[in-house]
Amino acid sequence: MKIKTAKFVISNSDIHKCPQEKLPEYAFIGRSNVGKSSLINMLTNNSNLAKTSNKPGKTQLINHFIINNEWFLVDLPGYGYAKVSKKDRSKFQKIIHDYFDKRLQLVNTFVLIDIRHEPQKIDLEFMQYLGENAIPFSIIFTKADKIPKTKTQTFIKKYKNKMLEFWEEMPKYFISSSMEKTGKEEILNYIEEINNTL
Ligand code: GTP
Ligand code: MG
Repeated sequence: MKIKTAKFVISNSDIHKCPQEKLPEYAFIGRSNVGKSSLINMLTNNSNLAKTSNKPGKTQLINHFIINNEWFLVDLPGYGYAKVSKKDRSKFQKIIHDYFDKRLQLVNTFVLIDIRHEPQKIDLEFMQYLGENAIPFSIIFTKADKIPKTKTQTFIKKYKNKMLEFWEEMPKYFISSSMEKTGKEEILNYIEEINNTL
């Protein structure tokens, strides 16, 4: 898919104030600092579209962007990061759960996982929650530039093995680096494929 236009629409913490247009919507979620906002900027060729920071907890609201006037891309606050205060964490949690419980336009969620880390309970639990609520999701392994290319499959295999303890099969997954701009075509083509089936 070619990105012709990518525009910011609205930020808010109130699900009822999210855009009302019935367009397919794709959400990006994961631990704080995993690289959600950076990935969104990479996908849309616009380094200033979503705000990024090396300090966890940068994205605090539900942010809607409209792509090619055809679909919404949503940047969400991160969940579970030790350096984010307890109060903020529960505030983000409420926003996130409200969003997933009520947003009917959502067609696919991309759960971002830092490729370097051991499988984390909070991510596994979050995917469990999506599964229980029949919310389709795929995984994006981020920051692939941080490990040697020869190790990529070893990291993925480890994650797969963990997933297979809970799931019958590994969900669809992508490997990306916002720094090296990899994974972009695969992710955008997947979105296009889904859009074409709707
Ligand atoms: P919150 O909004 O705080 O939840 O974080 P986020 O998930 O949106 O992360 P963000 O995109 O702001 O990135 C966090 C930090 O990771 C920033 O310092 C980025 O520059 C860095 N980062 C993001 N993606 C990559 C990547 O692919 N490679 C490398 N090396 N660094 C990355
Ligand atoms: Mg962010």
